[in-house]
Amino acid sequence: MTQAEPTAGFATTQLHAGYVPGTPEFTVLPPVYQSSAYAFSSLTEAREKFALREKGYIYSRNNNPTQAVLEQRLARLEGGVAAAAVASGQAAVALATLALLGRGGHIVAASQLYGGTVDLFDDTFRDFGLDVTFVDQDDLDGWRRAVRPSTRAFFAESVANPIAQVLDISAVAHIAHEAGVPLVIDNTVATPFLLRPRDFGADIVVHSATKFIGGHGSSLGGVVVDLGTFDFSAEPEKWPGLFVPHWRYGDVSLWEAFGRERAFTTLVKSKFVGDLGPALSPFNAFQLIQGLETLDLRVSRHVENAKAVAAFLDAHPSVGVVFHPSIETNPWRARAETYLPKGSPSVFAFELAPSDEDTFDRVERVIDALRTIRLVANIGDARTIVAHPASMTHNHMTPDQLAAAGISQGTIRISVGLEEAADIIADLDQALARA
Ligand SMILES: Cc1ncc(COP(=O)(O)O)c(C=O)c1O
Repeated sequence: MTQAEPTAGFATTQLHAGYVPGTPEFTVLPPVYQSSAYAFSSLTEAREKFALREKGYIYSRNNNPTQAVLEQRLARLEGGVAAAAVASGQAAVALATLALLGRGGHIVAASQLYGGTVDLFDDTFRDFGLDVTFVDQDDLDGWRRAVRPSTRAFFAESVANPIAQVLDISAVAHIAHEAGVPLVIDNTVATPFLLRPRDFGADIVVHSATKFIGGHGSSLGGVVVDLGTFDFSAEPEKWPGLFVPHWRYGDVSLWEAFGRERAFTTLVKSKFVGDLGPALSPFNAFQLIQGLETLDLRVSRHVENAKAVAAFLDAHPSVGVVFHPSIETNPWRARAETYLPKGSPSVFAFELAPSDEDTFDRVERVIDALRTIRLVANIGDARTIVAHPASMTHNHMTPDQLAAAGISQGTIRISVGLEEAADIIADLDQALARA
């Protein structure tokens, strides 16, 4: 019995990849290895493992067998070569990009990003002397013009949170490759079930596994997947973290020690998770693995429910724009047909129809009247959730940044859950009567 044949389909891979029941107890599920550290049989073994000359577990900040199952399973589902599991989606975004930027690097990023990613790039990264240029993700010339000699990565979400703007991944990947840098895609909202960025030329994927991968709103986690497509060795001088022999790794380079397949994720884990500390707890890794087992089933239902809710909202007189690609007038509808043939994700936004009354007061009345749908700063939960980005997730963004992300005071984000679609719609209907 193997973990999952290389030719296995999505549903088989999400259940089996990365784990073969075996010693010591033949548990059919991957065990929660709730151990901070691992015993060495001799000092020689400890020395070899610390020098990364011998593979094996040392300390759970660096690696853990439950994390490893999640890493292998998600790498397979994304079509990648290796993955690094970390404590949160925020950590995945931060560490993947830090590992690329090195000292004094520059990143070109879409303006349409999760607010926490904007804060990271625009505030914390600048504190570290790293630079960012934000561009409208549909402005291909903007991506091209933003490139500098110090650029080390392009970054965007495949389907942007909250207005479900679908990225032209192939076009942006092409420009990134012309500039000699990898395209990093945050695939949190789409999930690999709806869209595999590798199929369109992306190089690295990051996830907030907190969302659809876990799927039940119980556990934070994040994953960086190296898709194995970017040839770092074409310009090794750009990536000293991979190519310069380092005292930390016994005076060899990570590229030499771990090869093309593992060098980048080893840099993420052994340097950045090791030094900065955002390790994924084994228990959270276990819950995220459980979530993965039903990803296709859950996401299929999220997609169906979202389509029904979007159609209801679109027809409602108190609702203005509905930013869901299933809506006929949606600017990204044609692109969704190329990138999302199984359907569009269940995270999207809508605006109340214009009125003479104060928009915020109306939004507040509608949100406070909801009974089944919860007001929560999260997405991808099994439950239906709404949020008001301008006062919640994006509250500290400037008016210009909000406008660039397509968010106004009247924008309500919804993450459609797994309840009966009729019940979600009935709740929205009675709440919208207050608009
Ligand atoms: C698209 C996206 N990326 C990253 C994150 C950050 O993930 P986490 O909350 O797991 O740190 C979020 C969180 O909402 C998100 O929506």
